[in-house]
Amino acid sequence: MARRLFQDNPPEEADRILYPGCGAEAPFARAVESICREEGWPVPQGTAVESDPELFGRAKELKLRHVETCQADFLGPEMLRSEMAGPFDYVLGNPPYVPIEGLSEEEKARYRSDFEVAKGRFDLYLLFFERALSLLADGGRLAFVTPEKWEYVETARPLRKMVTSDRAHSLEGSPDGRAFYVEEINHVSEDAFPKLTAYPSVTTIRKVEEGAASEGETQIRRRDGSAGQAELPNGGESWAAAVRGKDLSGIETGLTLGDVTVRVSPGMATGADAVFVFDKEEVPESLVPEWTRPTVSGEELTEGGASDPKSVFACPYRIGGTLPAESELGAFGAWASQHRERLEERSCVQKGGKPWYAWHETPPMQDILRPKIVFKDIAKEPKFWAERTGEIIPRHTVYYLVPEEGVPFEKLLGYLNGPVAKEWMEAHCQRAANGFLRLQSRVLRKLPVPTIVSRERQGALAL
Ligand SMILES: C[S@@+](CC[C@H](N)C(=O)[O-])C[C@H]1O[C@@H](n2cnc3c(N)ncnc32)[C@H](O)[C@@H]1O
Repeated sequence: MARRLFQDNPPEEADRILYPGCGAEAPFARAVESICREEGWPVPQGTAVESDPELFGRAKELKLRHVETCQADFLGPEMLRSEMAGPFDYVLGNPPYVPIEGLSEEEKARYRSDFEVAKGRFDLYLLFFERALSLLADGGRLAFVTPEKWEYVETARPLRKMVTSDRAHSLEGSPDGRAFYVEEINHVSEDAFPKLTAYPSVTTIRKVEEGAASEGETQIRRRDGSAGQAELPNGGESWAAAVRGKDLSGIETGLTLGDVTVRVSPGMATGADAVFVFDKEEVPESLVPEWTRPTVSGEELTEGGASDPKSVFACPYRIGGTLPAESELGAFGAWASQHRERLEERSCVQKGGKPWYAWHETPPMQDILRPKIVFKDIAKEPKFWAERTGEIIPRHTVYYLVPEEGVPFEKLLGYLNGPVAKEWMEAHCQRAANGFLRLQSRVLRKLPVPTIVSRERQGALAL
């Protein structure tokens, strides 16, 4: 990373370098010293910032000649004062990854008011980016290693926008012209940073000098060894497709999966599957058939698809979606009352005020009891199964999508399981741990749908 920082841009006398969150070992500062020595370059004047008193103490003991080590909160107002305020010609770091759950209410409120990128469920490394960019000198360069997901998650939209948009829309007070230029995105191998588990990426960003011409494309290096150039979208949209090098423009038809489906949703949570779900051989006879519905779990899908599920729900809901009054529950009521105590403990009853025999979520029966396509929300490879009977109520571990009237079911299913849709999902969906894809309904609704599916639907609408 230090070599990348100095590539075609070696340090000169009196240049300054910042190491935010330097840690006890200050590995970046040590790398800079040895590279400069090897290359015969002047060592830039370093400022290392560490908030943890113990780590700060240890970093100070390293007695690195070019570094002034400061104990300070890199995200606090003190960074904008004194000599820590920059401007810096270089910034090099491995910022902390602290999700919002790790922050106090006071910290969340302060960050939300002090940082443009502190939106939604932000993570501290996004704020480190914003603060570090604000301390860069004109023409200065930053290299950070972070999880790659800021390139595509919704929460990082403001940061993506900040580093790709015109000066006028970027950090406050900048004159016209582009403010930052993402020079390189390097998806380094997963074992390059042992403590950083989730897909490390080294991003190099330059602050464009005032009046300089707009820059070109971003250099991309991928984990499979391939490399290329990409034009990053500049409105804050996901960079996933650009970075992964998939040209999917051929499938843009103007229609998306969201347009051709009634819904794309997770299956039903009852809040007590241990009570409501039975093996179909073991369901109490008194409930059959009126008060049962076949159901399928994620595990069952993997094993045998959705054609012959082994389990059933005890289901109090009528076909139109209404929940009968307690006095109308009949055999269901007699059975459920044996579990009343357990069912009353659920939060949907305690806090949500639902009747004790209701499910945690009310099933949208009119949509769910239709032929549909089911899938798992986390999968190594996306896979979609047909549920043609329209009788199965998917469990919470199964997602389902219901095609609109007139949409050719088999064609849609074939498309979803085909290579084009798969490639799009791999480019756009978030990654879970161990390389699995998250097929979030919000993302899937944006999947472009080919004209073959949409044309027939439009034909049907016209009739
Ligand atoms: C992911 S570690 C990286 C440490 C070091 N750069 C390395 O690569 O080994 C992040 C460091 O940032 C420090 N840190 C966390 N929040 C900070 C803050 N608000 N201001 C300054 N340092 C902070 C942590 O104590 C930790 O040492």
